[in-house]
Amino acid sequence: MQTHQLAADRVVVADGPAESVEAAARDIADTLRRRLSVQPMVSVALSGGATPGPLYARLAAPPYRHLIDWPRVHVFWCDERCVAPDDPASNYRLVMETLLADLPRMPEIHRIKGELPAGLAAQAYARELAEVFRGPLPWFDLVLLGMGGDGHVASLFPRSPQLVTSRSVVATRSPLPPHPRISLSLRAINAAHEVVFLVHGAPKADIVASILAGRREDPARNVPAARVRPEGRLTWFLDRAAAGSLPAGAMTEEAKS
Ligand code: 6PG
Repeated sequence: MQTHQLAADRVVVADGPAESVEAAARDIADTLRRRLSVQPMVSVALSGGATPGPLYARLAAPPYRHLIDWPRVHVFWCDERCVAPDDPASNYRLVMETLLADLPRMPEIHRIKGELPAGLAAQAYARELAEVFRGPLPWFDLVLLGMGGDGHVASLFPRSPQLVTSRSVVATRSPLPPHPRISLSLRAINAAHEVVFLVHGAPKADIVASILAGRREDPARNVPAARVRPEGRLTWFLDRAAAGSLPAGAMTEEAKS
């Protein structure tokens, strides 16, 4: 059998979305605990969208709610929509309702002010990151990303001029409403110690396979998700449907139940 090396450090494939969420929750909790055993605080940047809600809820439930020393966790966002924090489209609201509101003790919260115009919110968030990380670029312990069917990550969309920038935070526009967005830049994402993708569902299988094949000539190579090449470890958690177009013999790990 021919084996194919994929363009990631680990690709973990689970039977279904629930198993994939479980595997990702266990892995993220392990990472945070490991890092907290050698440093005073950890920083995580979280994404919005439909996929990560169950993961956040899982982290707020036993055993993880008790295993992680939450007050030593600094929670940031990968991106935000330009809406009020209580708007149903707010990524702050998603994380608050699924994770933060249920934790026994509160982490440190660093939200993006989506109620401001995108440019101002991006500047304010960049200033906050610079203060916390004491430098022009954040170095998150963990960045959690989803991926859109067009290969977008956070609020970095294909062909956006904001893909190439030296800034840590950019004001962007989504092709779908709400249009104005604020997003970590690729540069900030790629400075992370660990980047984790959580991607589910058959409609994303082909683009997942193109990105993980990492072929130079492949047009999918230019989408934002393919340009996530962090300095630290890169892991993709997939359910079997999202992994459906990976080549037979691809070097994946089975999620342990
Ligand atoms: C957002 C995101 C975005 C998301 C993808 C995947 O705010 O929408 O951060 O990048 O991760 O669009 O979204 P789904 O999980 O809904 O497919």
